[in-house]
Amino acid sequence: MNDFLTIAMPKGRIFDEAAELLRRAGYKLPPEFADSRKLIIDVPQENFRFILAKPMDVPTYVEHGVADIGIAGKDVMLEEERDVYELLDLKISKCRLSVAGLPNTKMSDVAPKIATKYPKVTAAYFREQGEQVEIIKLNGSIELAPIIGLSDRIVDIVSTGRTLQENGLVEYEKIVDITSRLIANPVSYRMKDIRISDIVSRLNKVIDKEPVFDTQG
Ligand code: PRP
Repeated sequence: MNDFLTIAMPKGRIFDEAAELLRRAGYKLPPEFADSRKLIIDVPQENFRFILAKPMDVPTYVEHGVADIGIAGKDVMLEEERDVYELLDLKISKCRLSVAGLPNTKMSDVAPKIATKYPKVTAAYFREQGEQVEIIKLNGSIELAPIIGLSDRIVDIVSTGRTLQENGLVEYEKIVDITSRLIANPVSYRMKDIRISDIVSRLNKVIDKEPVFDTQG
């Protein structure tokens, strides 16, 4: 059936804001949506199937076509470089990707170590700066790295700045501003164009009207 749509949603902090945005666009989602441990949630009244994925994996599901569309952070899009269409800046989950580290410290002159979840973006950034660095890939709690002497700097998401502050770290440079994007599989975009265009236009009407959540507090 042409109008049944599979949507890959990122679990975790983006999820609530994304679900709220869909509700504002007029889609009826079950109230238990956010609390469930289910990884697949069908919403037959909207002809939706939601796949709840790790944020970093959303573009993978969409590229392979097992999800028609998805919601992914720009950070993930830059790192994953998947073959998907970026349809809309949803302007939610605003944050930035930054270089951070211990205050008043210089990076080592020879191959400074940078810990990050984003090795490709980090490599591209330091290459542009003309600096040769050694990248150490971590999967989370990146802020630990400079504190315990694993790295000179980190490249990580800064949202409220609390994690840096509470761990005695400072932000050195912003690499790029980040928001979440609506993405689509190129074939789905052609085959299910009416359905997807409808979602885009309904979301467009509610984007950035007012902040979905105040993430600065
Ligand atoms: C992200 C990011 C920072 C933190 C920034 O981590 O990696 O650690 O949020 O947010 P803040 O500026 O508001 O403190 P997340 O909680 O997603 O988990 P992670 O450590 O597994 O990456």
